[in-house]
Amino acid sequence: MGGRILIIGACGQIGTELTLKLRENHGNDQVIASDIREGAEELMQSGPFELLNATDELHIREVVEKYEVREVYLMAAMLSATAEKAPMKAWDLNMDSLFHILNLAKEGKLDKIFWPSSIAVFGPTTPKDNTPQTTIMEPTTVYGISKQTGERWCEYFHRKFGVDVRSIRYPGIISYKTLPGGGTTDYAIEIFHEAIKNGEYTSFLAEDAALPMMYMDDAIKATIDIMEAPAEKIKVRSSYNLAAISFTPEVLAAEIKKHLENFQISYEPDFRQSIAESWPSSIDDTAAREDWGWEHEFDLEKMTTTMLDGVGKTLKEKA
Ligand code: SER
Repeated sequence: MGGRILIIGACGQIGTELTLKLRENHGNDQVIASDIREGAEELMQSGPFELLNATDELHIREVVEKYEVREVYLMAAMLSATAEKAPMKAWDLNMDSLFHILNLAKEGKLDKIFWPSSIAVFGPTTPKDNTPQTTIMEPTTVYGISKQTGERWCEYFHRKFGVDVRSIRYPGIISYKTLPGGGTTDYAIEIFHEAIKNGEYTSFLAEDAALPMMYMDDAIKATIDIMEAPAEKIKVRSSYNLAAISFTPEVLAAEIKKHLENFQISYEPDFRQSIAESWPSSIDDTAAREDWGWEHEFDLEKMTTTMLDGVGKTLKEKA
């Protein structure tokens, strides 16, 4: 075993912080960052980086060989809102990249894979509150269809070829270091930037659009915990439900108002509202808690103070 770790999509919202954490844990030169574009300075300067298109199978193989990679975190994907605008491109990126990695593992060239799924695998016919691990899944977005299909393939490669693939269904991830790209849950980040800069925010989701969310540190912890758990503890090989906090734009605005009392929110729902309406309001993640000991740390209050602080500092640095 041993060998290095490759992050594909290392410059994105989650990839950036995941790469930095893995470098801290394993040593900078053990963790290879790759993306289709260069990313944050801290990421670029802390260890090896390769410009890599996640759909380029040959190039992925070359990088895996060059660095003697044994573990891949495939974080590249087109998210829900962007995917609706470029369905075929989203399908190609989200599916091809996964097959390239699954096949490498099937050939024995990788020991372990992390591939993120999403709450987007659920749809309007899924029970909305405390959505169970196993339930009706009829996603209506391109992104959701690609993630659900990916889950089926992960389970298939595990069952048929013994591929050690591990996955969680991320809720909306909230963070301030790297901006998110094209998701329906992005309002919960924009709101902090606008609250601090302008004291007001116009939400693209309606006031009562409740969605499952999580602060970045918890998402990184879950990702590393599931990858470090002994293989026999990972009983679900499609993807695990994962939950922390659920709230509506109205509730989040009220929490921000506790710190910035003049903050004003208004609502102009756009096409992303119907995506939000098709997703769960809250998630039952008992399986993840029981199987590999998942626990979250950030509640709404702690997330809000951390975000106000972090976004405040970032905006000051830029000024
Ligand atoms: N945050 C993602 C999105 O909104 C959900 O996985 O697309």
